[in-house]
Amino acid sequence: MAKLGCRKSGPRPTLGGREALPGARTGVAARPSGWTARAVLLTAALVTTTAFAADTLDTNALKRLVHQDCGSCHGLSLKGGLGPDLRSETLEHYEAEVLTSVILDGIPDTAMPPWRPLISVEEAEWIARYLLEPEAP
Ligand code: HEC
Repeated sequence: MAKLGCRKSGPRPTLGGREALPGARTGVAARPSGWTARAVLLTAALVTTTAFAADTLDTNALKRLVHQDCGSCHGLSLKGGLGPDLRSETLEHYEAEVLTSVILDGIPDTAMPPWRPLISVEEAEWIARYLLEPEAP
């Protein structure tokens, strides 16, 4: 009898559980909007970062790129290796615009790769000017 009484009082937590269900549904409904909000925030952060990168160039990172990545083919001191000498005295007959397009699009049918997928136009322009500076590399 006492056990039955216990069972009778049992449904109350069940009802409480059922009452909790609409709350759980709200929770489920809230999740997608939470993810959407996060996705929007992430997109906004990425857009901001890209805009920032275009406005203020990280010249130290670009110098590292020139000496390490370009240098892996052109020689660490850019005096030439697989690729030709990139020192300013060798390149001085080039316009900065020509160098910029060589950097962005590479030289077809040679090992000189296009950098457009990796760097912005502004960064390529900066590298071209940097290579032409007499005191630079
Ligand atoms: C995978 C190797 C490789 C990498 C990495 C590389 N280059 Fe080159 N680059 C070459 C080769 C090879 C040539 C010569 C192509 C030819 O035969 O005309 C060349 C040519 C050039 C030229 C033309 C030089 C001239 O006198 O005509 C420039 C400028 C140049 N590279 C700049 C760069 C810059 C700046 C970077 C880094 C952002 C870079 N390269 C990275 C291989 C490379």
